[in-house]
Amino acid sequence: MKPIQVGLLGIGVVGSGTFNVLLRNQEEIKRRAGRGIQITMVADLNVARAQELVGPGVTVVNDARAVIANPDIDIVIELIGGYGIAKTLVLEAIAAGKHVVTANKALLAVHGTEIFAAASARGVMVAFEAAVAGGIPIIKALREGLTANRIQWIAGIINGTTNFILSEMRDKGLDFGMVLKEAQALGYAEADPTFDIEGIDAAHKATIMSAIAFGIPVQFDKAYIEGITKLGAADIKYAEQLGYRIKLLGITKRTPTGIELRVHPCLIPAKRLIANVEGAMNAVVVQGDAVGTTLYYGKGAGSEPTASAVIADLVDITRLHTADAAQRVPHLAFQPNAMSDLPVLPMGEVVTSYYLRLRVADETGVLAKVTGILAEAGISIDAVLQREADEIKSETAAVGQAQVAQTDVIILTHDCVEARMNAAIAQMQALPTVLEPITRIRKEELA
Ligand code: HSE
Repeated sequence: MKPIQVGLLGIGVVGSGTFNVLLRNQEEIKRRAGRGIQITMVADLNVARAQELVGPGVTVVNDARAVIANPDIDIVIELIGGYGIAKTLVLEAIAAGKHVVTANKALLAVHGTEIFAAASARGVMVAFEAAVAGGIPIIKALREGLTANRIQWIAGIINGTTNFILSEMRDKGLDFGMVLKEAQALGYAEADPTFDIEGIDAAHKATIMSAIAFGIPVQFDKAYIEGITKLGAADIKYAEQLGYRIKLLGITKRTPTGIELRVHPCLIPAKRLIANVEGAMNAVVVQGDAVGTTLYYGKGAGSEPTASAVIADLVDITRLHTADAAQRVPHLAFQPNAMSDLPVLPMGEVVTSYYLRLRVADETGVLAKVTGILAEAGISIDAVLQREADEIKSETAAVGQAQVAQTDVIILTHDCVEARMNAAIAQMQALPTVLEPITRIRKEELA
């Protein structure tokens, strides 16, 4: 049978990895797919560079629409990224009857509903394994491997840049700003790292996993997002003393009233496997009612790891494209007419536990006032840590006219609803003996 023909839009790091792995492993891939898979056409603005990468046997153009319009192309791979032209081209490829493979998490998290509806109406597949956690086959696991389960929650380290920064902060005892500069110098972080460090990239990925896990539409606009820019070395050290590590987690949970969907720094027990995922690696924990806890670990970015996911999608489409569309795996795991309308909960309704750090005047009764506010709010304390006196002797702060000794009080709480914690933090912050903005980091036991 003639090989399936693939058109590639954008040949950067992932595109060239895809081209190379397809070529290198072509015999093995053909034995799996049942027919050959060949990239026969590439669109890239830098035609000369692209031609050099793929050699003379592949047609290279600078117009993506020429690829979409080519009747010989069966599958279009979109590796342009972003919500702009990429969205237009994906919708045009679908309208032209092409199957689409994309690594574009931003596009799917924001416009997935429109794109999947268009694909279903046209009877084509949109595959996106590479959009979440790079080379880790987490979409396949959630959508197919765990299909027997009622999934309860997912928690993932799904941004390698921020995990690298947090690992360095912990190893070297440095604050965020210094490590970011180092990460940029080493090429781990982009020149504009906003999407990574502000948690937006992780929220795109968490949004997609949430939709597949619970059968809800993609709802990026409802995700709570907090990045790592305000984290300090002190909090990482205190967390360590209490038996925890701080990671940027993407979390989605089923509750009786709705779905939690959030990205924020999080204390997790140091003994959990995921707490020990270091550097730029990714990992996702999925809790299902039948299977229990499962963990998926690997490279979340990079040329060939991401190509591995792109090619897995090409093989899936090659195997399934002649099947009746109704027999294919639904885009979001659940049949489109069986989606749930469970709402994504506002952050104020999320239930979790907390790490609080208060810089306070080291005076009699300060701790009692703070714990009194928590008790009044019905928030139960799990642990309290106060720095040793000899560490604080030299530190003083102006309170009114007087210079007073100051210290850090660290409190771990049990679970409570976020709105109640917000109110308690506001009350504690108003105490004259609380000298700086209170640091609040959420905590998950992942038990
Ligand atoms: N910028 C992402 C990361 C990789 O740092 O994990 C692509 O999603």
